[in-house]
Amino acid sequence: MLGFTRNDFPDDFLFGTATSSYQIEGHAFGGAGTTHWDTFAATPGNVVRGENGARACDHYHRFEEDFDLVAAAGFDAYRFSTSWARVLPEGRGAPNQEGLDFYDRLTDALLERGLKPCATLYHWELPAPLADLGGWRNRDIAGWFADYTEVIMGRIGDRMFSVAPINEPWCVGWLSHFLGQHAPGLRDIRATAHAMHHVLLAHGHAIETMRGLGMENLGGVFNMEWATPADDSAAAQNAAALYDGYYNHFFLSGVFKGTYPEIVMQGLEPHMPKGWQDDFAIIQAPLDWCGINYYTRKIIAPNDGLWPSHHEIGGPLPKTFMEWEIYPEGLYNFLTRTAAEYTGDLPLYVTENGMAAPDVLEHGTVADPHRIDYLNSHVAMVQKALADGVPLRGYFIWSLLDNYEWALGYDKRFGLVHVDFDTLDRTPKSSYHALTTALTRT
Ligand code: FCB
Repeated sequence: MLGFTRNDFPDDFLFGTATSSYQIEGHAFGGAGTTHWDTFAATPGNVVRGENGARACDHYHRFEEDFDLVAAAGFDAYRFSTSWARVLPEGRGAPNQEGLDFYDRLTDALLERGLKPCATLYHWELPAPLADLGGWRNRDIAGWFADYTEVIMGRIGDRMFSVAPINEPWCVGWLSHFLGQHAPGLRDIRATAHAMHHVLLAHGHAIETMRGLGMENLGGVFNMEWATPADDSAAAQNAAALYDGYYNHFFLSGVFKGTYPEIVMQGLEPHMPKGWQDDFAIIQAPLDWCGINYYTRKIIAPNDGLWPSHHEIGGPLPKTFMEWEIYPEGLYNFLTRTAAEYTGDLPLYVTENGMAAPDVLEHGTVADPHRIDYLNSHVAMVQKALADGVPLRGYFIWSLLDNYEWALGYDKRFGLVHVDFDTLDRTPKSSYHALTTALTRT
């Protein structure tokens, strides 16, 4: 049982669930172009078992059935992403009509079920021809991305409830270019500094493009991890502050304050693209809302290695199947801090929150009481933030379906609905049934 129902929330508070294109659609279908995730996954050592998104959940052919599940659970909204390479197989130039038609049908299928379509324009599958040109390292990506935005939103923008250009700038910049854990798998500080800045430049250009199309309710989606110092030494406090700086503050600061945090620039400034200081007028394009993706915290200890001179250590809290500590307080901290320091009265949304578990199908059902507990503890923080007056307008659960969890392949099951990756059968888990009870309007 969940400890809440929608009656505990304001009438216009939105409950939703979230997915992304490459993780569920089946990228081999419908004339989509090759992406850097296809080539990253095809390179030994990058992805568990070399798995990729070629078939994924075959949502491309099953989206009607999947949206029936979203609607039947009582959700108000559905957050999805459009694939750049499905719309523009070469990243630029001629659109793939089949891809545009797909997103058109998908949009209408949501509206027919009374679901609010909440789109993200980039959830990580960069067209390979653009990766060849340097991808996020190349300043031109801002223009390429704006052109793609115009093509896809020119087709479906009239029916979107909300749109955000880029999912999780930290993952696009740091995780993919510094840690090398996501495509394109680089570990280079100059590439990182360029990508972190260009991702915000592209965000700003896309917002301007959509304003030009007359669109409203545009926002940004930022992932956040709470940083806890390993001990109370000054060195550990500084290490955690730096982690907090490049993970959590950097992007919010760029978009809402037109500046990057000093503590981060101490390491990144020498590697920034020329003229970065002049781009904030575009990066600061006004937004209508801000989305926060939240899963966990990290415990940070200093070391005497190269900048950023710190590392993560294991923590004492119960962990999910991702080995992520369950730390609901971090969500409350971010909601209150974001409103207090960056966004003020601007509506906030939790755009992703959820957990992975090795869920198994037995006798036709999937029991996931751990997920019910996780949702309960995090929704309690949502309620606490609301009670404090944070202008929070909605909460989206990651994810509707078990899906392709990037470098970790298909084992890390985040879904409310179990997917058998042989038969592609969908089986709602007990968390899905509990949500249905909590969300159905009475
Ligand atoms: C987020 C991503 C999403 C999924 C979850 C677990 O960082 O946006 O695609 O991988 O983590």
